[in-house]
Amino acid sequence: MASPEINRQLNERLDELYRRHLSAGEDGVASYYGSGRRYYGPELATREERDRFSICLATIDGEVYHTGEHQFPFALQSVSKVFVYGLALEDRGRDHILQRVGVEPSGDAFNSIVFDERNNRPYNPMVNAGALATTNLVRGEDPAEKLERTLKVLRCYAGNERLEVHQDTFRAEMRTADRNRATAYLMRSDGMLAGDVEAILALYLQQCSVLVTCRELAVMAATLANGGTNPITGEQALDLRYARDVLSVMHTCGMYDFAGQWAYQVGIPAKSGVSGGILAVVPGKMGIAVFSPGLDVYGNSVRGIRVCEEISERLGLHVFATGARNSMLGPA
Ligand code: DON
Repeated sequence: MASPEINRQLNERLDELYRRHLSAGEDGVASYYGSGRRYYGPELATREERDRFSICLATIDGEVYHTGEHQFPFALQSVSKVFVYGLALEDRGRDHILQRVGVEPSGDAFNSIVFDERNNRPYNPMVNAGALATTNLVRGEDPAEKLERTLKVLRCYAGNERLEVHQDTFRAEMRTADRNRATAYLMRSDGMLAGDVEAILALYLQQCSVLVTCRELAVMAATLANGGTNPITGEQALDLRYARDVLSVMHTCGMYDFAGQWAYQVGIPAKSGVSGGILAVVPGKMGIAVFSPGLDVYGNSVRGIRVCEEISERLGLHVFATGARNSMLGPA
């Protein structure tokens, strides 16, 4: 456990990081994503939306540091794909999943309707096509049981038994899901998906519509950093065997067609969502979560990327960084 003095200094550094990135404004923001309004330009965003921002760190020792609006609830969106991939791996095993969903970065946008034709499967579980297939592979007698099992595992990662699907967000997602629906029907016509497309789509968009806070997202990241065990509750959310698989796919595919640049500049496994959340994992050390809804052209949080770049640089977190990692406080 860190000493009170270390905790004080770390919170001070986080506040300083927050203030600097908040005032840095939002150049590079291409859009916002609001359920029901899909994407809208920064000119339509309110001051409040522009300034919505939080940075949280959670260590595998159970320490949590936060700054900004760390209790503001937002939809998990694509970040949910990480946890559902882990659940599907536990339910079906690595080989079964790999036959149906690849682990190759597609190099395309998250909602692009492209498939790994050679293997007749989606490229990876982080793009929407792969997530639809993965969600469908979660075990359950019916969609209700599959949803309950998905919620149970998300609650375990976050250490919050009350996590729920936000029904307004879910309804709005279903209303504007033509592209996902088209992708799912195409996949079923090619044998990459089996079953009731509307039920599969509803399950996927329900996991996307689960609300979390930035603090909870940091704890979810720390649970992955801790081999699948929640460092605060001690509950196991993911079998250790699959933590490596989930982190590997996050590292190569988690940031979509920005994944290469992310691996180059930040160098830690991560996953973004269109509501402006980014979860990043330093295996064996800590989880990082940033929430700021202004999105770049790839659908990733602009402030989220900048903050993660800076934290990785200052703490020497890049997986291929040869020098010793700096302490949690960064270079002396
Ligand atoms: O399915 C969709 O398109 C949205 N519910 C989630 C997309 C998303 O979060 C992409 N991430 N940056």
